Amino acid sequence: MELTEAFLKYQAAWPHIHYFIAVLCLVAAVYKLTNIVLERKAILRSFEAFPGPPAHFLFGNVLEFKQDGTDLFRALKWAEQYPYAFPLWFGPSVCLLNIHHPDYVKTVLSSTEPKDDFAYRFIESWIGNGLLVSNGQKWFRHRRLLTPAFHYDVLKPYVNLMSESAQTMLDKWEKYANTNETFELFEHVSLMTLDSILKCAFSSNSNCQTEGGTNAYIKAVYELSNLINLRLRTFPYHSDLIFRLSPHGFRYRRARKVAHSHTNEVIKKRKEVLKAETELSRIQTKRYLDFLDILLFARDEKQQGLSDEDLRAEVDTFMFEGHDTTASGLSFILYCLACHPEHQKLCREEVCQALQGKDTMEWEDLSKIPYTTMCIKESLRLYPPVPGISREVTKPITFFDGRTLPAGSHIGVSVFATHRNATVWENPNVFDPLRFLPENVSKRSPHAFVPFSAGPRNCIGQNFAMNEMKVVTAMTLKRYQLIKDPEYEPKIIPRLVLRSLNGIHIKIKPVEQEE
Ligand code: HEM
Repeated sequence: MELTEAFLKYQAAWPHIHYFIAVLCLVAAVYKLTNIVLERKAILRSFEAFPGPPAHFLFGNVLEFKQDGTDLFRALKWAEQYPYAFPLWFGPSVCLLNIHHPDYVKTVLSSTEPKDDFAYRFIESWIGNGLLVSNGQKWFRHRRLLTPAFHYDVLKPYVNLMSESAQTMLDKWEKYANTNETFELFEHVSLMTLDSILKCAFSSNSNCQTEGGTNAYIKAVYELSNLINLRLRTFPYHSDLIFRLSPHGFRYRRARKVAHSHTNEVIKKRKEVLKAETELSRIQTKRYLDFLDILLFARDEKQQGLSDEDLRAEVDTFMFEGHDTTASGLSFILYCLACHPEHQKLCREEVCQALQGKDTMEWEDLSKIPYTTMCIKESLRLYPPVPGISREVTKPITFFDGRTLPAGSHIGVSVFATHRNATVWENPNVFDPLRFLPENVSKRSPHAFVPFSAGPRNCIGQNFAMNEMKVVTAMTLKRYQLIKDPEYEPKIIPRLVLRSLNGIHIKIKPVEQEE
């Protein structure tokens, strides 16, 4: 009897619970909305001195980006209209100052301001709090720890490993050379740069170039880059909870699992090999010291090594940064040379003279191809593999023209728009490697050309990347003539790294057949 009464009472209370939940939701919604309005007002006040394109209240400027290969050029148009900088909205209360002039870039990149918590937060859920994303003491400690992994002596033997990886790729291209068939470059080059970073940084021999089919890790990186881009553009997805519950969140976790299991496997195999080793010096005498050795043997003052989580974050960071950026750079360089046979011819002559009959590049040859190096830089200018980076200022920042932004503001450095800024570069859209003749470089601000960023957070792998791009470009030109296929114009899109919506296609012919 008592039980029935209690049950009835409980049932009677139900409608009140519904009301209570409804009121709670309403209060939360009003609270959230008020916050958005207040945040928006504060941002509008902060960005007062910076006029910019009109933005939709909810979607900001995002709807102007059609995802069809024109987005970077859309932003370039705004850059012409609003010199130095303009606000770019990513939602009702997310806005960053998009900057595109060397004098502005210098102020931001020479500071020690941290990575911003908006874009990098989304990347961090994949690559962890490694060197690319971390800030403060942790970043400083890891940067100091990892700098020796990019020392000249460490990079030297890598050139032979890079040559090997390039050779495998070029052998695979025989079939296209013989059939005059147009083919997509980016995927081939990604496999090659993955093969090479695995060998160089992780002493791991993979057969990823020859195993056939699509490589699971590369496919996962592609998916993760797309989904992170989608998150940036879709303001409800800025909330972790909403993204987590969405189908895109599900796809993201699935791809992340694949990427992580790839890096876990590399770490596991290596730990097994090193089981017997206790001293770093013993390894050094056996072979060159690679990046993973340094991570595994790192000890702080208290003899503490890196936690498993920190180790995985660095491996994920270097696996991604070390292959995808270079793949983008190389794919566009080869495309640029296919579009400009006159420069291609000069590079080939230079390469043939430098290599003197050899088919592979060696360390000593890297400095013998200055014209090719200028072409590589010109391609990095027009097609920067990292088209934009961002910071969040912790104190007010003042630019050279006196305009300021308060602490807490987000600033995006548009590498793409800086590299095509018509007030700095004459005919900015024209491929002209002579811009990189020393006498021309000395007339420009060093911050006019920042494919590897600049200042304290510059790219730790830039020498590695430049070496790899020189090796692969030279070996490719030695063996093949690159030909543009006018049917395929790349539609460039920013996806963490610069990619092309429709791939990058060229034709090749063996060099002997060159008329
Ligand atoms: C063409 C190839 C490459 C380009 C264009 C490039 C570009 C960049 C840029 C622009 C940054 C600054 C990012 C930011 O501020 O958010 C950066 C940072 C970084 N890059 Fe690269 N990168 C390339 C290749 C590599 C390679 C091969 C590696 C490793 C082997 C690497 C590892 C890193 C790391 C770890 C950072 C973070 C450094 C720090 O904050 O201390 N990169 N890279």
